[in-house]
Amino acid sequence: MSARPIEFPAAGLSDGVVTLRLIADSDLPAIVAAVSDPEIPRYTRVPEPYGEQEARRWQRLATSGIASGTDLPTLIVGAEGGELLGAVALHGLDPENGRCSAGYWVAAAARGRGVARRGLGLLCRYGFGELAVKRVELWIEPANLASLRVAEAAGFTREGLLRSYMQIGGSQAPQQRRTSASPSGLRDRSQAPQQRRTSASPSGLRDRSRRDMLMYSLLPQDLG
Ligand SMILES: CC(C)(COP(=O)(O)OP(=O)(O)OC[C@H]1O[C@@H](n2cnc3c(N)ncnc32)[C@H](O)[C@@H]1OP(=O)(O)O)[C@@H](O)C(=O)NCCC(=O)NCCS
Repeated sequence: MSARPIEFPAAGLSDGVVTLRLIADSDLPAIVAAVSDPEIPRYTRVPEPYGEQEARRWQRLATSGIASGTDLPTLIVGAEGGELLGAVALHGLDPENGRCSAGYWVAAAARGRGVARRGLGLLCRYGFGELAVKRVELWIEPANLASLRVAEAAGFTREGLLRSYMQIGGSQAPQQRRTSASPSGLRDRSQAPQQRRTSASPSGLRDRSRRDMLMYSLLPQDLG
C-alpha cells in the first residue's frame, strides 16, 4: 500500500447496477440536494448546513486526497442513467499499516435497494486489489440500523464498541443540529442510555455530538 497518487479508472468502477466515479463540477447541485437530508449529517461527519460552498470544499479535499494517495471519495451513480445515488469513500489510507476507513451516504430516494452495499463492496474490492489495503474499518453508531445492515451485508465483522470515539457533525453547535434534525427533539430523547452516559463532559455539561461507535472491519479474505 503506497501513498502515491491514486489512479482511479476514468471510466469508473461498475457492477452493472451502480457505477463509482470521481466528483465533477456538474455534480455539485445534486450533491447539495442529496445532503440536505438531515439523516446524512445526523450519522456522518458531513457538515450541516450544507451548500454549494461545502460541496466545492469536499471536491477540493477529494482532489487533494487522491493526489496524495490518502483519501478516495467517489460518487455512486446509476450504471445506466448516471443519476446521483450516493457517495462512498476510503479515508486515511495508511501505507505503513495497510489500513483505511470507509464512509458512505445514499440519497433518500435511492435507499433500500442495495446502493450502499454495492458501492461499498466495489470500493473495498478496488482498495484491496489496487491500493494494497489489508483492512477497511467502519465506525457506525449503534442506533444506525440501516448502516449496520449495510456493513454486515458487505461482509464486515463487528469487533466492538469504541466509547466516546468520534465527533459527529462538524460545523454547527449541537443545539442547532438537534433543531434541524428534529423540531420535536424526540430523536435526542431516544438516544441509547449508554450514549447519554458516555457523552457527559468533565464539567457535567453533556456533549451530545461525541458518540460511541461500533467498530467493523473487512479483510480481503472476507470478500471470498
Ligand atoms: C445507511 C445508508 C447509507 C444505507 O443506504 P442504502 O442504500 O439504503 O443501503 P442498502 O439498501 O444497501 O441496505 C440497507 C439495509 O438496511 C435495512 N434498513 C433500512 N432502514 C432500516 C431501519 N430503520 N432499521 C433496520 N434496517 C433498516 C434495509 O432493509 C437493508 O437491509 P437488507 O440488505 O437486509 O435488505 C443510508 O440509509 C444513509 O445514507 N443514511 C444516512 C447516512 C449514514 O448513515 N451513513 C453511514 C454512516 S456509518
